[in-house]
Amino acid sequence: MQNERTIQFWDEYHKENESIEWISQPSEEVLIILQDYCFDASAQLKELRNLSMLEIGCGTSSLARDFWQHLVKTEENKTFRMVGTDVSSECIKSNIERDRELLSSDEASTTRTCLHYRTLDVINPSEGDTFCCEIILDKGCLDTFLFRSRNRGANKSSYNPIIQSLLDNVWKWLSDDGVYMFISPRSKLKAVRDYSGFQSIQRLALPTVSNGNLVGKTKSSGYVYVCRKNPAYVIGTTPAFAGRDKDTLPSDATTCPNCNVDFLDFRKGELIGGRGAAFWTRQWKGHCQHCKGQIRARTEISDISPFEEDKDKHRSS
Ligand SMILES: C[S@@+](CC[C@H](N)C(=O)[O-])C[C@H]1O[C@@H](n2cnc3c(N)ncnc32)[C@H](O)[C@@H]1O
Ligand SMILES: [Zn+2]
Repeated sequence: MQNERTIQFWDEYHKENESIEWISQPSEEVLIILQDYCFDASAQLKELRNLSMLEIGCGTSSLARDFWQHLVKTEENKTFRMVGTDVSSECIKSNIERDRELLSSDEASTTRTCLHYRTLDVINPSEGDTFCCEIILDKGCLDTFLFRSRNRGANKSSYNPIIQSLLDNVWKWLSDDGVYMFISPRSKLKAVRDYSGFQSIQRLALPTVSNGNLVGKTKSSGYVYVCRKNPAYVIGTTPAFAGRDKDTLPSDATTCPNCNVDFLDFRKGELIGGRGAAFWTRQWKGHCQHCKGQIRARTEISDISPFEEDKDKHRSS
């Protein structure tokens, strides 16, 4: 759960910085990329007539509104429900004020085309239990946790428990065919790549012209990551990060985030005892790190070197 001091920090920040766009402006070009990418990543989404969407950590960005309006305009005979969310009530207030004329008063509606804003803490495991969304957007929200945990030196691990809380919530709020699309200035994201709750991850570099106010003053225009949900993942049962711990044997149902094979099938049903837990744990970790999964048209995150996190390259430039 987000602590009071951090919420206050963001409240103050949003009071002083209205209409700020982090990383990338939601230009028409970016909106088209997001639209193409999410429907390409999940063919089932394209067939749906009613789609629910959520943006996490929306700040005072107009992305939720602009993407929603873009879809309403370009995807005929479909309804789109969009909820822009943030832990800070200050930015939610100013977005409601800004988009007053577009907002729907009927918050319970799930089938009508509508836009809402509300507060939501992405790292609180008991929040948002009623959400079931086809698309979750994130521009700089996940990123802000990576940035803060590293700066404070609190937890140097790429698998910070806060990141796991965020990803587990995203997993919980996604429908089985759903996609999590986030925009980040980082070209490599080890925690996301290794997260077992996603079955595939694709990455695309954004066009340079879409630069906004950049996280950490990076000059890179950022990347869009599109993650498809792995419905076989079970929160609290499946190890959240494949190959995370040298000595922990995965459960039989743990799946490779790239090719989806489970640990039992990977061993072809062989009992652990014969060659031992250390052998199988090592084999599995190696498979998950190097597996290219099925061949896909776009850059797979599994192509990214497993040994190289995106060092603060973009921040120091
Ligand atoms: C880097 S800003 C990005 C804002 C916006 N998406 C944009 O692109 O301009 C990160 C946002 O995450 C929000 N945030 C921080 N902690 C959060 C939490 N626990 N749950 C939801 N949002 C959070 C902050 O209030 C802030 O608006
Ligand atoms: Zn695999």
